[in-house]
Amino acid sequence: MESALDYWSAKALLEWQVELGATEALCEAPVDRYALQPPAPKAQPGQTAGQMPGQKAGKKLGTPPPMPPKPKPVDPVVEAQKQAAAASGLPSLRAALEGFSHCELKMGARNLVFADGQAGARVMVIGEAPGREEDQQGKPFVGAAGQMLDRMLAANDLARDKNVYITNVMPWRPQQNRDPSAEEIAMMVPFLERHVALAQPDFLVLMGNISCQAVLGRRGITRLRGQWGEAWGKPVLPMFHPAYLLRQPEHKRTTWGDLLELKARLGAAN
Ligand code: URA
Repeated sequence: MESALDYWSAKALLEWQVELGATEALCEAPVDRYALQPPAPKAQPGQTAGQMPGQKAGKKLGTPPPMPPKPKPVDPVVEAQKQAAAASGLPSLRAALEGFSHCELKMGARNLVFADGQAGARVMVIGEAPGREEDQQGKPFVGAAGQMLDRMLAANDLARDKNVYITNVMPWRPQQNRDPSAEEIAMMVPFLERHVALAQPDFLVLMGNISCQAVLGRRGITRLRGQWGEAWGKPVLPMFHPAYLLRQPEHKRTTWGDLLELKARLGAAN
């Protein structure tokens, strides 16, 4: 290209740019990257599209690099279904939960609370979510509500070191013991269903509303308690949660009746 500048003026301009901090010559013509994408200049005779006047053929100027493709959004429930289905035993189900990264409760929890008691027992108790003590020890129902649960089970000759298996809907403690959200429950249901299938109990006992929501798809423990239902091919008995009984001891009487109901079924199915 024919330059209108003489050598010395061009040199002075270049030195001035270096003084301002320019370190590299990128292209022959300036590109204003703040301006909107200008329409592609019309090709002149003998010039290819996208080629600036004076630019050598084959080199495009000012074309932004292509954006990397956006990652596809993941549905945590579908992800949970895949991972739970792939678990061939309780240890691999536990490992799948340990690797599941879509539930934010996991970030605030100290430990995964998977289960306690005897896998393969005839009765499987499903609680709601770990509290502080459970989070610290990595075991379900070890705090005050757990001691209450142990007393309730003992009335049926059930004990976790003998003949009962215990888990929760949520394996991680919700901060400030808040109720888990509907989304958090939904993403744990595939794991819970697989847990039941792998533990193979004869009866499920659901402690409180969160467990009823997860297993039966509805709440209302005052109406549901003591009524046998069915889920995942198993007879299911909802009961008041032991923590609720600690706060409202007047409901221990009805719960005693529910425990006798369970005892009768255990005896009848023997
Ligand atoms: N309440 C629950 O539902 N589960 C626990 O493990 C402890 C308290």
